[in-house]
Amino acid sequence: MASNWVDGFGRTIDYVRMSVTDRCDFRCIYCMSEDMTFLPREQVLTLEEILRSAQLFVANGVTKIRLTGGEPLVRKGVVGLCERISALPGLRELVMTTNGSQLPRYARPLAEAGVKRLNISLDTLDPERFREMTRVGDLQQVLDGIEAAREAGFESVKINSVVIKGRNEDEVLRLADFAVSRGLDLTFIEEMPLGHVGRDRARSLFSSTQVRDLLAQQYRLMPSSDDSGGPARYVHLQDHPQTRIGFISPHSNNFCSTCNRVRLTAEGKLLLCLGNEHDLDMRSLLRRHPLDDQPLLDAVRTALKYKPERHEFSADGDVQIVRFMNASGG
Ligand code: GTP
Ligand code: 5AD
Ligand code: SF4
Repeated sequence: MASNWVDGFGRTIDYVRMSVTDRCDFRCIYCMSEDMTFLPREQVLTLEEILRSAQLFVANGVTKIRLTGGEPLVRKGVVGLCERISALPGLRELVMTTNGSQLPRYARPLAEAGVKRLNISLDTLDPERFREMTRVGDLQQVLDGIEAAREAGFESVKINSVVIKGRNEDEVLRLADFAVSRGLDLTFIEEMPLGHVGRDRARSLFSSTQVRDLLAQQYRLMPSSDDSGGPARYVHLQDHPQTRIGFISPHSNNFCSTCNRVRLTAEGKLLLCLGNEHDLDMRSLLRRHPLDDQPLLDAVRTALKYKPERHEFSADGDVQIVRFMNASGG
């Protein structure tokens, strides 16, 4: 079924990113502040409320759902939730973005529960640096998680690397070699200014153009028209057909004109754009109307009229969006 939802700029919304928790076992320096506090439990949507929202989205033509966090795999019951969402008639794919730490245990159950693809964050291959960038994470756990994912039978496993000057830009080629040696796709991401993370982001911006120049020292980059329906632009690597390299460049290449998505945060706010403060309080509607979807549908349709034309990120380091990335669902 074609999506019923069209925004004020004629963009069809058929993709929803749903954050199942704002909590995480890592504290990445670009995502959280050092003294991060998390939502009280009663403010977080229950699994039933998340499922009901997913049902409502899919019944109205949403064909792709990505579960995010925080870290989605720290939410109890997430595998069962995946099973129920992936079984919704009309859904084309259920996918997930994870930090990988819990995959040694969860990769196979997730694949069996119908999750089709995984995006796994990995910014460095150096254990000490990994600890610095995540503040608490263990690199080996994530590498084991990536291996477990490769063996579990997903249609694709993709690596996400946020590149930060002075932290990991000297690992661009090493990360590409890692992806190539394992036949994985890899996306390089420019840092986005969400939340006060206690660093001057303007000084550490490393653009996709700079990443490309580094890659070109070792690989032949071939333009590609591939489109995963997301913000990434892709290139192929000559002689390495298994690996595509993506670039997500909110600062240097605006992708908003083809935006097809909205986000549901862990506390039930429907965010119309990652780089904007407009939202709809779905949680109140879900709780006020436990048996009747119509008020929710009406509210979503109205909210979509207010989906902004584009994000308002600038590269000058100022935080325009006070909401943190873990609370936004990425
Ligand atoms: P696929 O294209 O389905 O593989 O996924 P994706 O790259 O869209 O999703 P993922 O969760 O891996 O996110 C990668 C990066 O893209 C993260 O930094 C997200 O915050 C960012 N991102 C995803 N969607 C949007 C968007 O609509 N706007 C902006 N500005 N960033 C986005
Ligand atoms: N800018 C860009 N990407 C970010 N991510 C988390 N915080 C930021 C940020 N400030 C990435 C994570 C993960 C995805 C969901 O978003 O690394 O891959
Ligand atoms: Fe956790 Fe992902 Fe944020 Fe890192 S980027 S702290 S792994 S939610």
